[in-house]
Amino acid sequence: MPRAHDDSWDLASSVGVTATMVAAGRAMATRDPRGLINDPFAEPLVRAVGVDFFTMMLDGELDPAAFENASPVRLQAMIDGMALRTKYFDDYFVGATAAGVRQAVILASGLDARAYRLPWPSGTVVYEIDQPEVIDFKSNALSAIGAEPTAVRRAVPIDLRADWPTALTAAGLDTAAPTAWLAEGLLIYLPPDAQDRLFDNITGLSVPGSTIATEFVPGIVDFDAERVREMSGPFREHGVDIDMASLVYAGERNHVVDYLRSKGWDVEGVTRTELFQRHGMDVPAPQNDDPLGEIIFISGTRTG
Ligand SMILES: C[S@@+](CC[C@H](N)C(=O)[O-])C[C@H]1O[C@@H](n2cnc3c(N)ncnc32)[C@H](O)[C@@H]1O
Repeated sequence: MPRAHDDSWDLASSVGVTATMVAAGRAMATRDPRGLINDPFAEPLVRAVGVDFFTMMLDGELDPAAFENASPVRLQAMIDGMALRTKYFDDYFVGATAAGVRQAVILASGLDARAYRLPWPSGTVVYEIDQPEVIDFKSNALSAIGAEPTAVRRAVPIDLRADWPTALTAAGLDTAAPTAWLAEGLLIYLPPDAQDRLFDNITGLSVPGSTIATEFVPGIVDFDAERVREMSGPFREHGVDIDMASLVYAGERNHVVDYLRSKGWDVEGVTRTELFQRHGMDVPAPQNDDPLGEIIFISGTRTG
């Protein structure tokens, strides 16, 4: 189904299922003895959502031989990529709080459990923004297993295409103090103009010393819908309502590094390939690579 300007979802449908998919990746990466990340909440959250495909994946019941396009090597490359992405943003938040920032905003938080698992300094407030069904599900599922936030957690259930800055300040964001922002796994699901508006809004709420982290997929400009459709075939065959090709907004959009620099942010990008190399991990061969191709992870500070 094509996207609509006011579409909505839960964690088992449309854009919402991508949150469950990446959490399944974190659950698998958490089991990896190399120990790059530790997200103990990813697995219970994915199980609580209850999409068969991902539960079977966690139980080791998916037979890779049944998937024409999902070899074990390709699956491992995706899990490794998720581990590197998670670690990059975990380290980002640890660095921001070490520099003195005491409020964080996780945009499109999905099943992100950082508010429950990172070592936030005492008194840090973590705001999470996502669609109401997504936010409520996670809050309830984590409280059902007795999980306690490691920061003051404030959920802000709102669509990011609506007036979220007003909702965020109403929830208590102090715009006179620096904020550490994160937009992980979000931009490709926003139209190009909404991406710009997102960064304009963030900039408007950020005093110097605020920090930002996100990732950019340059290949979105000449996005190969057919290849992505082919790669998500195994999901559809197993009853997962996901057609990445219809969820993402392809085509020209501003390069995030250039755009943020033009708004007074001092940001740097690092490619996913460099992260694989930095951690001594095998860089996936093109045929096993992420269907969206290279990803640039970006972080920095507002100076202007
Ligand atoms: C790939 S998931 C990433 C979730 C989380 N950041 C992570 O990395 O685990 C995409 C998330 O974006 C959220 N999202 C996408 N468009 C949104 C919008 N317009 N308003 C609110 N949330 C949105 C979805 O609900 C989903 O949780």
